[in-house]
Amino acid sequence: MPETVTITDNRTGRSVEAPIVNGGVDAKAWSDVLPGVWFLDPGYMTTASAQSAITELDGENGILRYRGYPIEQLAEHSTYLEVCYLLLHGDLPTKDQLETWVHDVTYHTFLHENMRRRFMDGFHHDAHPMGMMVSALAALSTFYPEAKNIEDPQNRNIQINRLISKTPTIAAMAYRASIGMPFVYPDNSLNYTENFLSMMWRVAEPHYEPDPVLAKALDVLLILHADHEQNCSTTAMRVIGSSHADPFSAVAGATAALYGPRHGGANEAVIHMLTEIGSYENIPAFIESVKGGSDRLMGFGHRVYKAYDPRARIVKAHADEVFKVTGKSPLLDIALKLEEIALSDDYFKSRNLYPNVDFYTGLIYQAMKFPMDMFTVLFAIGRMPGWLAHWQESLEQNSKISRPRQVYMGPSVRDYVAVGDR
Ligand code: ACO
Repeated sequence: MPETVTITDNRTGRSVEAPIVNGGVDAKAWSDVLPGVWFLDPGYMTTASAQSAITELDGENGILRYRGYPIEQLAEHSTYLEVCYLLLHGDLPTKDQLETWVHDVTYHTFLHENMRRRFMDGFHHDAHPMGMMVSALAALSTFYPEAKNIEDPQNRNIQINRLISKTPTIAAMAYRASIGMPFVYPDNSLNYTENFLSMMWRVAEPHYEPDPVLAKALDVLLILHADHEQNCSTTAMRVIGSSHADPFSAVAGATAALYGPRHGGANEAVIHMLTEIGSYENIPAFIESVKGGSDRLMGFGHRVYKAYDPRARIVKAHADEVFKVTGKSPLLDIALKLEEIALSDDYFKSRNLYPNVDFYTGLIYQAMKFPMDMFTVLFAIGRMPGWLAHWQESLEQNSKISRPRQVYMGPSVRDYVAVGDR
């Protein structure tokens, strides 16, 4: 059987046969036979927007791999910074490369003082940390005007290093500003995740010692969020990058895309749902209202995964470790029961609805005392290397500027009518 598709324009009888390569068909072949006819695909439901060698995602079989490495192995054996290197450079670092990379990241965590004194101080006292994050990342481009020189690979690497290094500092600063606490400067004696926890929680102690189990769990969560191929925010990153905007501006756009509740905000929705259910006895009624279409089981289902999200399995295992330290969340039992019922119920089984990564992450974040409006900020820290790897890849591919077509549905030409005559 030939691995091709044939498309025929029935108006002219012209046909073109195009090969199927790696599960895709080059749309150029189609546009050759159908000039001026556009493929309408809102939401990119059937469009591959890029060729990419970064993340392989097989939703039917619950497989997620970064640069070929299964997510399970990376979560068990690697660290977040090593995974950043892997995503950005294509291979795991040698010992020397890793040492240099960790050193470079550790020593670029500080922000210009004006960012704190002038910029962050300008926000309203109850500003949402994600709003501050979007704005602060964009503002960084004005501190590094040379970042515009995106054609120079060395310059690109400097900006990538800055963004990986400074994002947790901005995130913690946004949180501290939102609760009126003084900013905590980075501590270079701590590793990446520990330093973030120190900037979040340190009060008057001379040196903050994070709990190693919590720091490790957070590091794993960052690994699990590091990339997820062409999701909404990564697509935003590639689209903005295609105009050759500087990476700080592009990352601000990607962060804004993540801010939306349909993308980065579902873990918060899970906590709201579990809190609203409140107790074991209310679960059956809630399940019935989901099946009746009045509610959604938040943290369940995924556009791409039609099997158990492999990240959810890892998160669930780490939740047990975290709760040993923090004490069990009263919402955990409700979550476990909901999962048990849903996995054995025909409504959920027939629709391939399984827990996604967000089902248990919110519970962990909450147990670690992160306020709910920081959940998406944590996601943004984790996703930074993915955004940057895709930005870098699309520049290296010399991609064209993203400029889709539309199917125009408005009125046809009409003459202007003076305001008094309308
Ligand atoms: N609870 C109950 N029913 C659901 C759920 C759910 N969480 N998700 C999907 N369904 C049902 C739909 O009602 C639909 O049923 P029908 O065929 O009888 O109409 C069927 O399953 C297919 O659902 P769609 O909405 O078409 O699936 P889609 O792929 O568009 O949506 C999405 C995926 C948005 C993730 C959806 O499953 C959802 O809303 N889940 C809850 C929110 C959530 O957890 N989002 C986080 C995703 S992971 C992430 O972004 C990091």
